[in-house]
Amino acid sequence: MATSPIYLDYAATTPVDPRVTEVMIRVLRDPIAFANPSSTQHAFGLAAANQVAQAREQLAAALQVTAKGIIWTSGATEANNLAIKGFAYANSARGKHLITVVTEHKAVLDCFSALAKQGFRITLLPVNNQGFVDLEQLRQALTIDTLLVSVMAVNNETGVIQDIAAIAAIVHAHGARLHVDAVQALGKIPMTEIGQHADLFSITAHKIYGPKGVGALVLRDDPRLKLVPLLHGGNQEHALRAGTLAPHQLLGFAEAAELAVSEWAHNTAHIRALNQHLLAGFALLPQIAVHSWLAPRVPHIVNISVQGVDGETLSKAYNQCMAVSNGSACNVNTKQPSHVLLAQGIPLALAQASLRFSLGKMTTASDIEAALDYLRYLLRNI
Ligand SMILES: Cc1ncc(COP(=O)(O)O)c(C=O)c1O
Repeated sequence: MATSPIYLDYAATTPVDPRVTEVMIRVLRDPIAFANPSSTQHAFGLAAANQVAQAREQLAAALQVTAKGIIWTSGATEANNLAIKGFAYANSARGKHLITVVTEHKAVLDCFSALAKQGFRITLLPVNNQGFVDLEQLRQALTIDTLLVSVMAVNNETGVIQDIAAIAAIVHAHGARLHVDAVQALGKIPMTEIGQHADLFSITAHKIYGPKGVGALVLRDDPRLKLVPLLHGGNQEHALRAGTLAPHQLLGFAEAAELAVSEWAHNTAHIRALNQHLLAGFALLPQIAVHSWLAPRVPHIVNISVQGVDGETLSKAYNQCMAVSNGSACNVNTKQPSHVLLAQGIPLALAQASLRFSLGKMTTASDIEAALDYLRYLLRNI
């Protein structure tokens, strides 16, 4: 049995990589570039503005996108809001229809609900029992006045990878735009795939060993792509997102993104081996079903349900020695079963008895062994 808590909740957030901390501390200690990056009338402000520009270039290079398409935000919730609401408001004269998927993160679904109350027509696409969007249903849902489709690249609860290239081809053939919530994709799958196909995508630093409180919306280099700002109060970020920028946050994010991309192959091989180890352990426990078993998935996330146990008891007991989640971190206090699992047709009792294991680059084989040992122990004792 495990003796000290083991962190297996990397999809909720990650610790900051010490190399990122180094960069951030260096920036915070800078005796000149502490200034307001908008105060470019003096040398201090210019130094800060240079740091913002450097972060933008570094992030753009890591993502292989153009630097001017990056709009800094406070995280992916804000980036998703700006993408969806900002695009819908800016283009409402052309249409009132928007499409998303029932298994999206709340930071997308709640934007759609808000827009529905303001007169937009919303289509929520279902998924199959593996969590996959049916491309034919997407094709049929698109209408002449569809403005935007929003689909996440990698699901935060199940790890399912959607076929963004195929989705983009259908959306673009109908003259609509595609937004991708790429939060769980960055550092997990090649970002070129998303950059090439999405018109806009959202990312955040704290899922890739960067700091919390900083993210970005990345826009395709296309002058016809119009957004309106949601925050007013200054002309930062091409007047799309007012507010003083924080160079230490931005450079920390850029460093984390560069590391996530450059160390992708190494980290993925490590995590894939741990994933196999975990799955091999689960395979010996007949009460356990692994969700989205047949779908392409990232190895970082494994979502299971345990038959014949009370979900709340299981989760409480398991989290005494482990740190796992039973759904998205944003839903922890709602005690609602996962909307993602329910949408995949998982029965309520099973959806309530789910655990999401999410692995990171600091996870070790002995962490996985301890996670399995403790689960076996609980299954014998609860
Ligand atoms: C898929 C997805 N989208 C959006 C978010 C929100 O990101 P942030 O915490 O940066 O606002 C998260 C984080 O939980 C996520 O997993």
